[in-house]
Amino acid sequence: MNNLKEISVRKKEHIELSLKAASQYTISPGFERILLLHSALPEISLDDVDLSTQFLGKKISHPFMISAMTGGYQNAKKINKAFAEAAERFNIAFGLGSQRAMIENPSLSDTFKVRAYAPSIPIIANIGAAQLKKYRLEDVERIISAVDANGLAIHLNPLQEVIQPEGDKDYSGVLKAIERVCENISIPVIVKETGAGISRDVAEKLKGAGVAWIDVSGSGGTSWSRIEYLRTKNAIPGFEEWGIPTVDCLLMCRGILPLIASGGVRNGIDVAKAIALGADMVGAAQPFLVAFMKKRLDKELQTWKDQLRIAAFLTGSKNIKELKIAKYMTLR
Ligand SMILES: Cc1cc2nc3c(=O)[nH]c(=O)nc-3n(C[C@H](O)[C@H](O)[C@H](O)COP(=O)(O)O)c2cc1C
Repeated sequence: MNNLKEISVRKKEHIELSLKAASQYTISPGFERILLLHSALPEISLDDVDLSTQFLGKKISHPFMISAMTGGYQNAKKINKAFAEAAERFNIAFGLGSQRAMIENPSLSDTFKVRAYAPSIPIIANIGAAQLKKYRLEDVERIISAVDANGLAIHLNPLQEVIQPEGDKDYSGVLKAIERVCENISIPVIVKETGAGISRDVAEKLKGAGVAWIDVSGSGGTSWSRIEYLRTKNAIPGFEEWGIPTVDCLLMCRGILPLIASGGVRNGIDVAKAIALGADMVGAAQPFLVAFMKKRLDKELQTWKDQLRIAAFLTGSKNIKELKIAKYMTLR
C-alpha cells in the first residue's frame, strides 16, 4: 500500500475502533476522586448562571469543545461537517483531525473544510509534532488558511508512534520545530497530547517555546495503545494503561499556561470539576463520536451543557471566574 492510501485506511480504522469499549483505558482520568463542594445555599438563580468565555479570540457559550478526531478519507467530511454544524448550534469550539493527509495529498483538503457550516465558532487546525519538523512553514500556513482556523493544535503522540510498526519513532528536534512554528505563525498555538498526558516539565518547556495553550489530554479516556492493539498484531504489547491521568495532569500543570482539560472527560460535571482544578477550557472526543454515530449528538451536547450549569449552580458559581475558584474535596 502506498503511504497516502495507508493514512486514509488508518484514519477510517481509528474511527471504527475508537467506538469499541476496548479502546478506552481501564484506569480512570481521576474525576471520581474530586468532589465539588456542594452548597446548600447557592444564593443565585440557575437562570443567572452564564458560563460563556473567550477562546481564540471568539466568545463561546460554554467552556467545552469537540476535540480533534478526523479528516483525510471520504466519510470524514460527513463527520467533520456534523461536528461543525453542532458546534455552531451550541456556540462551542471544534477541533479538526490531523491535516497531515491534506499536506501530502491536497485533493483530500475538502474533508477538512467546514468553515461554511460554522461561520462564527473557533475552529482549530491540527498537525502532528513528529511530522512537523519535515514540513515547511508554507505547508503549515496553507493548512491553517485552507480551513480558516483560529488556532493551530500540534499533537504529541509518542506512545502511539513508538508502539506501532509504521510509527514515526524519531521525536528528536520536536520542541525546536514547535518553537519555529510559534515564532512564525499569526494564530495561537495549542500543543495537545492525544490521551497519555502532559507533565509539568513538558508544560514548562512548551511555555518556553512560545506555546499559547496546552491541552493536557491525559489518560483515562481513549487509549491509543489499545487502539493500535485492536488494529494490528505487530504492535509492541504492554502499554494499555500507560500515561498520566487527566486530573493529575491538571494538578501538575496549572498556573503554567492556559489549560485545556481532555482525556476521559465524559459529562458536564467532569467539565465543571476540570475548571475548578485549573482548566480554562475542556475537550472531549470519543463521547461525541459515539453520540454522532447514534444520531444523538445534539442531545449529548445539551446534556453536557445542562450538567455543567447545574454543577456551577450547586457550587454557587455564576460564571467561569467563580467556578474556577469553587472549592472541592479530594478523595484518597
Ligand atoms: C477517532 C479519534 C481520532 C483522533 N484523531 C486525532 C487527531 O487526528 N489529532 C489529534 O490531535 N487528536 C486526535 N484524537 C485524540 C483526541 O483529540 C483526544 O485528545 C483523545 O481522544 C482523548 O479524549 P477522549 O478520551 O475524550 O477521547 C483522536 C481521538 C479519536 C477518538
